[in-house]
Amino acid sequence: MSKVIYPGSFDPITYGHLDIIKRSAAMFDEVVVGVLSNNAKSPLFSPEERKRMIEEAVKDYNNVTVINFNGLLIDFMKEHNISVIVRGLRAITDFEYELQIAQSNRKVSKYTIDTVFLTTSIKYAYLSSSIVKEYARYGTDVSDFVPEHVVIELQKKYGL
Ligand code: PNS
Repeated sequence: MSKVIYPGSFDPITYGHLDIIKRSAAMFDEVVVGVLSNNAKSPLFSPEERKRMIEEAVKDYNNVTVINFNGLLIDFMKEHNISVIVRGLRAITDFEYELQIAQSNRKVSKYTIDTVFLTTSIKYAYLSSSIVKEYARYGTDVSDFVPEHVVIELQKKYGL
């Protein structure tokens, strides 16, 4: 039984993230989407809001669950008996950072945890939650980037 975790901030979930979740769900028996709660990036949405938006987006996938986590990813994975991390790679700019966390997670977990990278579909290669928030904040239509229920949550947050 293959069980993987797709961790991230998801502030908020975008079609780029969903692309990775859907492809992972087709590849592995079970996909846990891990939403980081104690995020140094000061997220716009609370951990619970981010979790709910993902749950709504993945409701048709019966092998995908969404969980909030705190602290070190590898500790959470050990508690939940997961040994594989999935991450998306958009461009070469992601590579250096991703390589660094993948290698350190592998070392600190005493080589019990590994990371699998999926290349993001070209049509989402430029997309990030930060870009979506920046456009949404000024009232630009972001419905090509995030699901409709996320568009509504962004509008509420920015008082639009
Ligand atoms: O969506 P993001 O912000 O790029 O995701 C980064 C994330 C959540 C995968 C990473 O920051 C993480 O795993 N944080 C948990 C704390 C941890 O384990 N840190 C050690 C490796 S950086």
